[in-house]
Amino acid sequence: MNETVDAAAAALRAKGLDSLPPLAIVLGSGLGPFADEASAAVAVSYADIPGFPVPSVEGHAGRLVVGAVEGRRVALFQGRGHYYERGDAKAMRVAIETFRALGGKTLLLTNAAGGLNKDWLPPSLVAITDHINFSGTNPLIGRPGKDSFVPLTHAYDEGLRAKLHEAARANDIELHEGVYMWFSGPSFETPAEIRAARILGADLVGMSTVPEVILARRAGMRCAAVSVVTNFAAGLAGGDPSHEETQEYARLAADRFQRLLRSFIREAA
Ligand code: HPA
Repeated sequence: MNETVDAAAAALRAKGLDSLPPLAIVLGSGLGPFADEASAAVAVSYADIPGFPVPSVEGHAGRLVVGAVEGRRVALFQGRGHYYERGDAKAMRVAIETFRALGGKTLLLTNAAGGLNKDWLPPSLVAITDHINFSGTNPLIGRPGKDSFVPLTHAYDEGLRAKLHEAARANDIELHEGVYMWFSGPSFETPAEIRAARILGADLVGMSTVPEVILARRAGMRCAAVSVVTNFAAGLAGGDPSHEETQEYARLAADRFQRLLRSFIREAA
């Protein structure tokens, strides 16, 4: 299986990327343009890297961009693979493990999510403190070896979260905290599922991030994650959630989110 990681690393080396920086950010909905902030950047399309997930969702580019933001070299994953695209919970395995193999240590995940807290008006920003895997699958299924029995007690690193809060404070940005529940998608949840999610302890629902955190923890990396609440979860407000609304509210948060990321990079990279 690591042959694909070797092949991906070779493809990146062929583009001049012999090593990757210690910090990478996965840019979710609305944040793709952040990759344009990187100066002296090398950008490689996922289609040119074996095993990387070529996105099938509108609004998600598929490029790895490596360059300097705030004078620090960072890797920006512009777009991600989702479980719901091909039924593959390991969609991000090669991308994450190649990052690790070439020097990666810290992964910041960003996403759009439905909010369960009525006080969090879209597009609020929320640092994820923990997750609930409600998908019925796991990206490590079928992966032999004791290393797959990964503890997830400290999956979302407290030190990194403190840096996110420092970055938020420095920019006068309100940053909430909450538990993210992973639903497979691509259909949105029912109101009954959202009531169940609330009883089970969720503050956010979404269709990504959790498998990436599990893969990154298995690979020995530190993780942090931030959601932009693009809508009230199903049944909490009048209308239906939609992909268009998700994109629109994610875009509305983009300036604020990008300021947060720039400050975090100064703190953490
Ligand atoms: N549910 C699941 N995923 C989402 C949502 C939602 O309400 N909003 C944005 N991503």
